[in-house]
Amino acid sequence: MTIALITGVTGQDGSYLSELLLSKDYTVIGLHRRSSTNNLCRIKHLLDNPNFRLEEFDLTDPSGCNRVINQYGPQEFYNLGAQSHVGTSFRQPTSTFEINAVGVINVLESIRNYSPKTRFYQAGTSEMFGRNYVVKNGNQCQDEDTPMLPQSPYGVAKLASHHMVQIYRSAYGIFAGSGILFNHESPRRGENFVTRKITKYIGQLVRGKAVGKLQLGNLDSHRDWGHAEDYVRAMWLMMQQDVPDDYVVATGTTHSVQEFLDAAFSSANLDPKEHVSIDPDLFRPAEVEYLKGDATKAKTILGWNNNISFNQLVLDMVESDISNA
Ligand code: NAP
Ligand code: GDD
Repeated sequence: MTIALITGVTGQDGSYLSELLLSKDYTVIGLHRRSSTNNLCRIKHLLDNPNFRLEEFDLTDPSGCNRVINQYGPQEFYNLGAQSHVGTSFRQPTSTFEINAVGVINVLESIRNYSPKTRFYQAGTSEMFGRNYVVKNGNQCQDEDTPMLPQSPYGVAKLASHHMVQIYRSAYGIFAGSGILFNHESPRRGENFVTRKITKYIGQLVRGKAVGKLQLGNLDSHRDWGHAEDYVRAMWLMMQQDVPDDYVVATGTTHSVQEFLDAAFSSANLDPKEHVSIDPDLFRPAEVEYLKGDATKAKTILGWNNNISFNQLVLDMVESDISNA
């Protein structure tokens, strides 16, 4: 049986990736931080699966990294753990860097020293591009060759780890690759990301439980939003190649936050103008204004495609939040 270790298993992507790997008969070791409250809600349906096991782990603890790598000698290691909120990274730059950059070095060093055949996936991000884009056939977009100029402590930390992955690949021959994933959402998305914040509020509104107006920040930025279920497939495909590499994973379409808001409210026959107000405190000190990925390389080499459209994604999230409100 193939053994995979997954950091960030309690998060959105960790839960979908665990399901995917278990469906392929992997043994999945989910690495999670000790918490004073139960944060296993996204994976509670997996806890009785005999091929799924949890181990306590923190990316900032090198000896713990050594321990799990030594104990399991996994074929694949998916590093999805991170302080993943861009806004938070402005308020907590040091811990964001510790987790998202130094934590990656901790894992890479453990692999290099104790299990050099382990294949390593790094959760890279479109946030690394910052304000940069290229123009292809009159289209503004980002691909693997677009220069990276991050606009947040989160983006800087992720770019540092992106470079580290390339160093461990070229200097030590480790099978390591970064997925440069654009925004991906789902009903399991964290509640303080803008899409889920919107759909959760709609659920409360429909059920008569909303308190006050929905407070939002910048509605003008554009994101390339896909569905997390589609994106974890790309992670797995990257680890099955003969040669390790980095890949952009994106839908190739972009929408403003305003457009997501309008689509979500209209799917529930509601008008956002009556329910939304702008809070200047929710604007970030620096913003990534425009993201639209070109995933030609992933489509050509990995055979990856996104199956779930923007409108289906919006509907999936709104319906789930209405049912669960
Ligand atoms: P998420 O839901 O916020 O999950 C993050 C996970 O990281 C949680 O399980 C969290 O554990 C864990 N974590 C945080 N600090 C840790 C530490 N010190 N040691 C070990 N684990 C730690 O994020 P996601 O949306 O699933 O994203 C997965 C990864 O992809 C992240 O690295 C993110 O930066 C990256 N990414 C996400 C997107 C996107 O649009 N979703 C796009 C590009 C890249 P707790 O439950 O204990 O907090
Ligand atoms: N979170 C949040 N909350 N964002 C808001 C709000 C709000 O109330 N109002 C407006 N926004 C705007 C943000 O300023 C940003 O321009 C956009 O909505 C998206 O914000 P998020 O949903 O927080 O996502 P993100 O793009 O900053 O980061 C996500 O995608 C990255 C990939 O590009 C995260 O998942 C990162 O971990 C990921 O790397």
